[in-house]
Amino acid sequence: MASLSGRRIVLGVTGSIAAYKSAFVVRELVKAGAQVRVVMTPGAKEFIAPLTLGTLSGHAVHSELTDDRNAGTWTDHVELGLWGDVVLVAPATAHTISGMVEGRGDSLLLTVLLSAKCPVVIAPAMDRDMFTHPATTENLDTLTQRGVHIIEPGTGELASGLTGKGRMAEPERIRQELSAWFKKQAPLLGFRALITSGPTREPIDAVRFIGNRSSGRQGAAIALELARRGMMVDFISGPSHIPTDHPGIQRVDVETALEMKAAAEAALNNAMPDVIIGAAAVADVRPASPITGKVSKEDLPEAISMVPNPDILAGINALASSACFKVGFALAHGNGHDAALRKLKSKNCDMIVLNSITDKGAGFEHTTNRVDFVHGPDRIDSFELKTKEAVASDLVNEVQNQLLQRTAPSEQSGR
Ligand code: C5P
Repeated sequence: MASLSGRRIVLGVTGSIAAYKSAFVVRELVKAGAQVRVVMTPGAKEFIAPLTLGTLSGHAVHSELTDDRNAGTWTDHVELGLWGDVVLVAPATAHTISGMVEGRGDSLLLTVLLSAKCPVVIAPAMDRDMFTHPATTENLDTLTQRGVHIIEPGTGELASGLTGKGRMAEPERIRQELSAWFKKQAPLLGFRALITSGPTREPIDAVRFIGNRSSGRQGAAIALELARRGMMVDFISGPSHIPTDHPGIQRVDVETALEMKAAAEAALNNAMPDVIIGAAAVADVRPASPITGKVSKEDLPEAISMVPNPDILAGINALASSACFKVGFALAHGNGHDAALRKLKSKNCDMIVLNSITDKGAGFEHTTNRVDFVHGPDRIDSFELKTKEAVASDLVNEVQNQLLQRTAPSEQSGR
């Protein structure tokens, strides 16, 4: 049930006799805490009144491409498609299914399906012979290959009087299957991460700074993978052009180490994370007295005195709950295992991701990375050279194992 809570579901209802059951589908989903917006095909309205579905869902029902012909306004199918976490078509007729396969846009629902960025789930409903027709079988195979999840129809007496497969799954089963599907799609739903990423820039004057070559690519890949698996991510990024567009990622852009520390602490005080990942390449030192304005070449000082930056990761790890899984990064020149083991302790981490700048294709300014996960002297997992996205996936697999072994998200973070 929890996996449907707060979910935004666009429910497409098409012209099958099973459309009367969509009232119960809406009720099941709303009861489970989901928000439902209904889109009906014109055919569906022959079977059930929009008023029924509008009342049960608490939102106006849409079915035409134009809202008001006289006013010249149209129904924003793009907005509907972007709003949903999923489009569920229940019942899905053979006609709408073939329209989906062909990519037709001759009903509002089909245009919503064409513009939706979210996954699609359908619950077919049709007569036995239509369901077993090779055209339908092929169409359902095509949709499955495109990633559409199909809630299999049940077997029993059909409206035609025939007995066989084709009856839309019962609303309760649709709710259960959708809930299980969400859980599978987003196994980390309800967990929260705090990530620092990218370089920091420490000003010498208004235009010059001390920085490093970190691109922020690895941290961004980790944030996106965590969000894809359902996590809410507080992403504190030093200057980086790598995009992290995902509704689950809340990004705060900073420049200096002190700004990064303040932003990370603010995020942690606002919501306790279940995992902390320090992927940022924080400048170790900063100019003690940055100069206001631009210093001319002739006036540049011969030496700049530096002060150490605070260790951001050690600081936020100390503030986090003991159940939080804490991950640091270490960039080594050679093997680096001893240094990683020392960092595990000094930064109070559960795991260090070690990458070496002497490994070909690994570290800063590369799209690939080669890492070891250092848990302790007795557990060091070594990985091949991979894309940073694949490294992120390995890291998130480890995070997932750790979090799912630990307590439920709500127990940790009080959400
Ligand atoms: O000590 P070192 O810089 O090698 O440690 C690297 C790890 O510590 C990384 O996870 C990095 O994000 C974090 N770190 C930090 N604040 C610093 C220095 C490093 O959070 N001032």
